[in-house]
Amino acid sequence: MKLSDKKATLSFSDGSPSVDFPVYKGTIGPDVIDIRKLYGKTDMFTYDPGFLSTASCESAITYIDGDKGELLYRGYPIEQLAVNCDYLDICHLILNGDLPNAAQKADFDSLVTHHTMVHEQLHFFLRGFRRDAHPMAVLTGLVGALAAFYHDSTDITNAHHRDVSAIRLIAKMPTLVAMAYKYSQGQPFIYPQNDLSYTANFVRMMFATPCEDYKVNDVVVRALDRIFILHADHEQNASTSTVRLCGSSGTNPFAAIAAGVACLWGPAHGGANEACLQMLEHLQANGGIEKVGAFMEQVKDKNSGVRLMGFGHRVYKNYDPRAKLMQQTCKEVLSALGLEKDPLFKLAMELERIALEDPYFVDRKLYPNVDFYSGIVQRAIGVPTSMFTAIFALARTVGWIAQWNEMLSDPDYKIGRPRQLYVGSAVRDVPKKR
Ligand code: SDX
Repeated sequence: MKLSDKKATLSFSDGSPSVDFPVYKGTIGPDVIDIRKLYGKTDMFTYDPGFLSTASCESAITYIDGDKGELLYRGYPIEQLAVNCDYLDICHLILNGDLPNAAQKADFDSLVTHHTMVHEQLHFFLRGFRRDAHPMAVLTGLVGALAAFYHDSTDITNAHHRDVSAIRLIAKMPTLVAMAYKYSQGQPFIYPQNDLSYTANFVRMMFATPCEDYKVNDVVVRALDRIFILHADHEQNASTSTVRLCGSSGTNPFAAIAAGVACLWGPAHGGANEACLQMLEHLQANGGIEKVGAFMEQVKDKNSGVRLMGFGHRVYKNYDPRAKLMQQTCKEVLSALGLEKDPLFKLAMELERIALEDPYFVDRKLYPNVDFYSGIVQRAIGVPTSMFTAIFALARTVGWIAQWNEMLSDPDYKIGRPRQLYVGSAVRDVPKKR
């Protein structure tokens, strides 16, 4: 970051001396006011619950222009990456800063492919769960448990250890997610197959059985690969900030990523795709398009507690570019699978049409986000609703680990430790007789 020639001056209405703060500029996007010395100079904290106006770090990985609805991974627009790359290209880009050339791609893909197996003991670890446990509960446990198997790559001060952990996590997430699914189905685990691409391997581990040869459907592979690309990273969202804060204590990468998985599960974040599909299915089962008007009135009634899942975003105040690409993927997949008449897709398009015209949504700049169409695509290719967020976690692992690595590679990083505005009881004595 570069020091701006302008500075910020904080003045007080009670005549207290004003205080100057440096302003820093990034490559693009808003400048930042460096308030690290604020408390030392004023004995006061800033107050920003939810971090609406707070930059927690500097980063070179992803940039979002919320007003324009633009998303860049290492400077490349998501629209170009989604069409010209596969997910492992994006992993190389996000981890190493640039797209791989042919030789780098061959090496990177081979490295990931040869780390896809997990320790056999994890099969027994899974047996501790109920079969009907939510896949995200299982995945949170499985990812955290990896720390018990990989002591040889948990020295976070060692860049090589950090690289090995990154490859292990990217490579093993598909295997773990597929194992969680198979376990819930009471079916045997399917081992990775090294002659398949990353995403084709995942599809086979999810849907093959030992009873017959399994032919991977290219439409399904392309759709999932696109979903992985669109979910790979997204600046300092709640789960990425969780990984950074957790990792800032010096804990191992598996524990930090497990914290990210746990945070992503929430319906306001990565759990929204599951919640969105449940919303669409509930609407479809209770009157469908004819009842959309009444449903939207409920959404606009604050007391109903009903939200239009898959809509709205803290940063995007325009159409989420990923939602546009996801809608396009939806159309391609439904037509390739002969499901053009999918009533849920029609219902989603009608909800979007109404919302984009309704002043309640327009005034609040509420647009479809990445979760609005991703559930319809996944349902069409046979992924059960309960697995949607686990697949989001699979895709986001590369972003989490790259952001964690970026933090630890900064020699000046510190443990994250926010302050507070205390509004509790003033000091008081414990009554003598109780
Ligand atoms: C993801 O941060 C990221 O980058 C996340 C993510 C990523 O890739 O990591 O993009 C992935 O999490 C996408 C978001 C998925 N969540 C949902 O689709 C759940 C539904 N959306 C919301 O709950 C909400 O929009 C949030 C949580 C996404 C954003 O919430 P904010 O920024 O805190 O906004 P807010 O709750 O303060 O809402 C502002 C206004 C409020 O109305 P008023 O009080 O001003 O009258 O908009 C309303 C809200 O009531 N509102 C909605 C709404 N979202 C916001 N009203 C109805 N339906 C909605 N979905």
